[in-house]
Amino acid sequence: MLYFDHSATTPIRQEVLILLEEAQRLHFGNPSSTYKYGQKSRVLLEKARRQVADSIGAKPNEIVFTGGGSESNNIVLWNLLYSKNKHVITSEIEHPAILNVLHQLRDFGITYTALPVDQKGLVSLEAIKSAIRDDTGLITIMMANNEVGTIEPIEAISKIARENSISMHTDAVQAMGKIQIDVKSLDVDMLSLSAHKFYGPKGLGILYVKKGIKLNPLIGGGGQEHGLRSGTENIPSIAATGLATQLASDQCIENAYHLTELENQFKSALTSHYSRAIFNGHPDTHLPGLVSVTIPDVPSDFMIINLDLQGIAISSGSACSSGTVKPSRILTSLGISNELNVRTLRISFGKDNSADDVSTLVDAMIGVIQKASKYRV
Ligand SMILES: Cc1ncc(COP(=O)(O)O)c(C=O)c1O
Repeated sequence: MLYFDHSATTPIRQEVLILLEEAQRLHFGNPSSTYKYGQKSRVLLEKARRQVADSIGAKPNEIVFTGGGSESNNIVLWNLLYSKNKHVITSEIEHPAILNVLHQLRDFGITYTALPVDQKGLVSLEAIKSAIRDDTGLITIMMANNEVGTIEPIEAISKIARENSISMHTDAVQAMGKIQIDVKSLDVDMLSLSAHKFYGPKGLGILYVKKGIKLNPLIGGGGQEHGLRSGTENIPSIAATGLATQLASDQCIENAYHLTELENQFKSALTSHYSRAIFNGHPDTHLPGLVSVTIPDVPSDFMIINLDLQGIAISSGSACSSGTVKPSRILTSLGISNELNVRTLRISFGKDNSADDVSTLVDAMIGVIQKASKYRV
């Protein structure tokens, strides 16, 4: 099986899995208990918090463990209910864990402006400035897009937020382990991460909350996680996330180099056999190893199914429901026509992919392109 959908999720790292299993077996104590079983769990919890903090340039008491990237985003957005300023600036290409929540929050008096992006997927700084209103309380723009990989200018956006006394959040779920994240230089107030995107466990998220930013919990109770996320902590997954975050950060530069090499190999091999391929997103400022490519002669579902039959996993930007392929709203935002939209694939390489894997993928894709022309799909 060859897996090229690391933007959807990643397999857990071996060393992280070992730690998770060990903690699951041995460290079952409740970290709030005072006896030794509990205290061992507390040590694991606080070690993980420090590992995460060190990896992103934060302090341990600024790190909150949550149930995933979606939950981290939800905590930020639902807190608008407590804010005096109830207008939000965001982009059209955010994840549903931002846009759907903002849509829902309209029932509670929250308004938002979802800014369009250019053909490369970039949000305009001028458009952000123009969208600011007297009641704008939050700017939330993703660090990197999950379908086309475009990296947004978060530092510059934070500067605008700062100058206008607006809170700044970024969804950095896709960025961790591929580009360096330093909350101080980004100058954000809040930042969301998700462990399963960087070889950690599923169902474990992180929310960075800058010291001094006051948030209210969505889940109240015993007051765990600095009172922001009650419930007995998931110690095995938290310990595993601490290690996964540290490794993702330590190996970020070499990982990015490896992913860029695979990406370049893929692009040149594919275009040398098939010159009609169109690469989407930003040509330079994008996540290493995430390729959005349109194959004008092959519908994406035909390609995905035929590759799957050969044990190769890739995805498309578009969603398939009840047998019909719907264009991806993100590709539409980039100005891609419906016809090309449903012929677009997302290939996201990972740390364990090799040059041989990329050759196999390209050969298989060329085979499917030939098959499609034979059957005129
Ligand atoms: C940009 C982005 N934000 C948020 C999420 C949601 O993260 P999780 O699956 O941990 O809830 C994802 C996952 O696909 C994502 O790509």
